[in-house]
Amino acid sequence: MDISLKAPAKINLTLDVLHKRDDGYHELEMVMTTIDLADRIDLTERAGGIGLESTSGFVPFDDRNLAYRAAALIKKRFDIKKGVHIKIHKKIPVAAGLAGGSSDAAATLRGLNRLWELGLSVEELAGLGLELGSDVPFCVRGGTAIARGRGEQLTPLPPPPPCWVVLAKPSHGVSTAEVFNAFRADRVQSRPRLDRMEEALEKKDFSGVCEELSNVLESVTLEQYPRVRHLKEKMKSFGVPGVLMSGSGPTVFGLVERDNVARRVVNGLRGFCRQVYAVRMLGGLEGTSLD
Ligand code: C5P
Repeated sequence: MDISLKAPAKINLTLDVLHKRDDGYHELEMVMTTIDLADRIDLTERAGGIGLESTSGFVPFDDRNLAYRAAALIKKRFDIKKGVHIKIHKKIPVAAGLAGGSSDAAATLRGLNRLWELGLSVEELAGLGLELGSDVPFCVRGGTAIARGRGEQLTPLPPPPPCWVVLAKPSHGVSTAEVFNAFRADRVQSRPRLDRMEEALEKKDFSGVCEELSNVLESVTLEQYPRVRHLKEKMKSFGVPGVLMSGSGPTVFGLVERDNVARRVVNGLRGFCRQVYAVRMLGGLEGTSLD
């Protein structure tokens, strides 16, 4: 039996670091939402072990790969004798702040739950996901949510108003661990106002959402990589009303209501950046046939 699943990227509408915890992780408070930029994961049952294949050379091919680790975790935890071949059709840029690897892992968990008829609930899948990475529980559920703790305490929110998300990914990647390590609360210039973002989402207020975009990790990544700051400024100069870096970066995104404006911004950015995309905001998983 074969299963094919969509593994969509996420962006952060807000990201706040509350404090560093005793376990070395940071206590976070963020708003994440699913966008219509997705990898596809094909799972094919086979005898024995786990096989891995990807359309992108940038994806790790060993046990650093989160989809591989998701399959290994399920196999071990539930003592599954069968094997699986995982094929990743990569569209989401790697090490970009878009949770591409986490979403591949989440789709693999969801798919193997069906393939091997494990009957696990979404909560149980999210719990397994947290063992793989902080963003995996959100990716198991998708949609729009406040994520607290390491990222696993999820409170659903209404989806953002329909709009285009223009994404620009500089050629280099960023290490999330290094960005968190370099984070200093006293260098942060402005912090998210979660209540106002919630209000804007509830009212479907596009301008309000744009106004409340805020990510404290910009204080690290924009300093270390002037190219990211430059991309942000470039996007703003095209008249994009809301521009922010996603996650620990380096991808910068802009929210645009009209498709002709999105097209103009994409064309304008192409001279500065090779990886530029315009995709729809999804916000909820309805209609995306994730699996
Ligand atoms: O959980 P994940 O493996 O995706 O996190 C990657 C790195 O990002 C962690 O090793 C940690 O350094 C940092 N991180 C953090 N606090 C979080 C999430 C991630 O410090 N809540």
